[in-house]
Amino acid sequence: MCGIVGYYGNKEAYPIIIKGLKRLEYRGYDSAGIALMNHSVRVYKCKGKVSELEEITKDKDISGNIGLGHTRWATHGEPSNVNAHPHVSMNSLFVVIHNGIIENYNRLRTELEAEDYIFKSETDTEVLANLIEYVYIKLNISPDEAVRIALTKVIGAYGILVVCNEHPDTIIAARKGSPLVIGKGHGEYFFASDATPIIEYTNSVIYLNDNDIAIVNKKGLHIRDIRNIEQTVKVQKIDIEIDAIEKGGFDHYMLKEIFEQPKAITDTCRGRLNYYDKTLKLGGLHQVIDALTKTERIIIVACGTSWHAGLVGEFLFEEFARIPVEVEYASEFRYRNPIINPGDVVIAISQSGETADTLAAIQLAKEHRALVLGICNVVGSSIPRETDAGVYTHAGPEIGVASTKAFTAQVTVLTMMAMLTGAKNKALTDKEHNALIDELALIPEKINSILAKAEEIKKIAEIYKDATNALYLGRGYLYPVALEGALKLKEISYIHAEGYPAAEMKHGPIALIDEKMPVIVLATVDKSYEKVVNNIQEVKARKGIVIAIVTEGDTTIRTMADHVIEVPYSDFALAPLLTVIPLQLLSYYIAVMRGCNVDQPRNLAKSVTVE
Ligand code: AGP
Ligand code: GLU
Repeated sequence: MCGIVGYYGNKEAYPIIIKGLKRLEYRGYDSAGIALMNHSVRVYKCKGKVSELEEITKDKDISGNIGLGHTRWATHGEPSNVNAHPHVSMNSLFVVIHNGIIENYNRLRTELEAEDYIFKSETDTEVLANLIEYVYIKLNISPDEAVRIALTKVIGAYGILVVCNEHPDTIIAARKGSPLVIGKGHGEYFFASDATPIIEYTNSVIYLNDNDIAIVNKKGLHIRDIRNIEQTVKVQKIDIEIDAIEKGGFDHYMLKEIFEQPKAITDTCRGRLNYYDKTLKLGGLHQVIDALTKTERIIIVACGTSWHAGLVGEFLFEEFARIPVEVEYASEFRYRNPIINPGDVVIAISQSGETADTLAAIQLAKEHRALVLGICNVVGSSIPRETDAGVYTHAGPEIGVASTKAFTAQVTVLTMMAMLTGAKNKALTDKEHNALIDELALIPEKINSILAKAEEIKKIAEIYKDATNALYLGRGYLYPVALEGALKLKEISYIHAEGYPAAEMKHGPIALIDEKMPVIVLATVDKSYEKVVNNIQEVKARKGIVIAIVTEGDTTIRTMADHVIEVPYSDFALAPLLTVIPLQLLSYYIAVMRGCNVDQPRNLAKSVTVE
């Protein structure tokens, strides 16, 4: 999820690595560290920015022409000096930096503790460092063979660089699920999470594949896979701009993050949803699941897009767990002297974990002795530290101000929480629970199929980019999606847009309908489908323009609407995860066509840390 930089050659490694880590700053991070080798390995690391790492190494020995650098996006263990990478194994034989999540780290840690291993940090990465060392000592094998065998025990995603103190002239790289690129210079090699830190030195790169293990030493570069089968080293020439790499080849972070949603949801479910044995576990709720299951009321507090996710959460908890839910704007909740009973559960949702109003709502809930849970994307941020327990969304850094992958990751977490609670209080039958797990497993691929329609959506955006107003309509689970779609459009294209429950049209908004008003209707198949069809006819009867989001194969609405965007069929409770995608793309393309600053819209900040 974050940044790796390594160097092997005849130059001083430190400046190359520090500059490379700064090149990766766009990926967002909370800690930084570096390991340098010549005759010995020296490790320097700290919470905070790369500039703080420079500060702590100012008067240190930073010599060495082999080095590893890391910027951390914490997943296990809050940002701190001890949790920062590189991690050193207990007997100081191995130094490891890692991007990704090791799902079975708890079990591996227990097994290593039984072998008298002692851990200093809370991270999953330190477990890997000690596992490699344990295998290396136990089997008396080469460092790269120890890495390979250790990785056969690992479940999860990794991009790693490893050095061994007893073989300081070798760097070992391996990847599975987290990217790793090797740049090949003249007698030197560069390692990084993407080509950004490499292309100023060489345009010859090798993209490691999943399960590859690369070994670099004075004999050159060799690659084997995890089954110990030699792999061909394929050197490619790249000539893309640094700016393009930072955005993954996309024009904006927002578009990159829209397209990252299949991976983000996969990472949100990683180690939690087991599609094979139909089990669901949320480790962060282990201590509080009984209180959550027994509560008589859930209050969800959030702002903006996170509040829209909370509204989906209301439908999910009331549907799956039959627990009453109310959703509050944190800014309103904190001042209106609300009734909060000690048995209540307050769930605070926040991508940044730093939103002032949401933090204040949490304080109020704690004063009333409610159980306070957090759903957050930034490990170790203020909200996770203030709440009693919670679940991280693991969507990876979200750079674009307009929230996209954080929203779908939040809704995914809320879905899992409601399923877990409903299964425990028996409001959800095993059959329903298992069917939902199967459905959730298909969501990333279904989102991919919608993303493949981006050009079709772009054509619609072209037609309506000069609109001055827009209405978004949805019923049930799709009402919060209508609100979210309207927010996306207004916050990045500056077009006034409103979201409404579709049935509300006749109570006023229908007066707005004319031949210039685009009305985006969320009309996928669910129990209120026929009613939504009627709403579409009401709009058409008044010469309104209808852009309908429908279930694939819908032949009815196609005869009425001006434009139809199809999404795959899904259980109606999971429809928000699919129907929001076209709305994100529509608002993005309209904003770009209007020349707006999509990633940093006017007047907005990524995290509203003031009232
Ligand atoms: C959504 O696109 C906006 N960036 C904004 O509404 C945001 O959702 C809101 O400020 C809440 O932020 P948080 O999730 O970090 O608490
Ligand atoms: N899971 C590791 C940690 O929490 C690596 C996180 C990352 O990708 O930066 O330290």
